[in-house]
Amino acid sequence: MDKIRGVILAGGLGTRLFPSTKVTNKHLLPVYDKPMIYYPIQTMTNAGIDDILLVTGGNHAGDFLQLLGNGRDLGISRLNYTYQVGEGGIAAALSLAEDFADGGKICVILGDNVIHRNIRRAADDFRAQPKGAKILLKEVPDAQRFGVAEMKDGRIVRIIEKPQNPPSNLAVTGIYFYDAHVFDITRTLKPSGRGELEITDVNNAYLSEGTLTHDILEGWWTDAGTFESLHRASALVRDGGANLVD
Ligand code: DAU
Repeated sequence: MDKIRGVILAGGLGTRLFPSTKVTNKHLLPVYDKPMIYYPIQTMTNAGIDDILLVTGGNHAGDFLQLLGNGRDLGISRLNYTYQVGEGGIAAALSLAEDFADGGKICVILGDNVIHRNIRRAADDFRAQPKGAKILLKEVPDAQRFGVAEMKDGRIVRIIEKPQNPPSNLAVTGIYFYDAHVFDITRTLKPSGRGELEITDVNNAYLSEGTLTHDILEGWWTDAGTFESLHRASALVRDGGANLVD
C-alpha cells in the first residue's frame, strides 16, 4: 500500500479570535487540556501517518518549534516545518508542500480541526485508491459556515463554500487526502471573493475529473476557529475525549 505523508496547515492570522491571537498563533491556544495543534497531529499519528509537514505563518511561528521540537514525544518520526507568508488561503498554504510530498500521496488536516474518533479506515482506503482525492463529510446544524456538499443519489455533485442556503447538512471537514496531482490544480487557482485560494476549488477540480471519493466521518467533529467553536471543542474533548483509537 502507498505511503501517505501528512500536511498540517496552521497558518493564517486567526483574526476571528482577536485579541486572543494578538500575541500568539491560534493553533497554540488551548482546547481543554492541550494546545490546539496537538489534536490534528494525533489524528495523523493514529492513522499511521508519522512523516509530517507543519505549515505555519504570522509573527509567532517560532513558538511551534519550542512546543513541538522534533515531534518525537508526539509519535512523529520526522517533523518538517515551513512558513507561509501572508494569509493567501488554505490552498496557498497547501501548495508549499509540493517538495515535501515528493510525488506521493498526502493527508491534509486543518490545524483547527478536532475529531472524536479516528480516520484510520479512510486513510487505508485512500492508500489503496489508485488516484484522485478523498474528503470526509459530517452532518452539522450550521452548514452555512463551511464548504457544503450538494448530493444526488449518494454522490457529490458540487461543493459550495459557505452557501447562504446550504443544499445539504453535510459539511466538508478539514481532513483531505490527495494524490500529487493536487499541485497541478493549486497552480491553476484564482483568488476567491475573500481573496484566498480556496480548498473547495481544489475539491471541485477533482470532482469534475471524476476522481473524488468521500466518507462520512464517525463521531463528533468541530473546528475551533471562532470563540463559539473553540469553547465547544473544549467541552467536547472534556466530555468524551478526542482522537479515540477505536
Ligand atoms: O473546518 C472546515 C472548513 O475549513 C471547510 O468546511 C471549508 O471548506 C474551508 O474553507 C475552511 O473554512 P474556514 O473559513 O473555517 O477556514 P479558515 O480560514 O478558518 O482556515 C482554517 C485553517 O486553515 C486555519 O486554522 C489554518 C489554515 N490556514 C488558513 C488560511 C486562510 C492556513 O494555513 N493558511 C491560510 O492562509
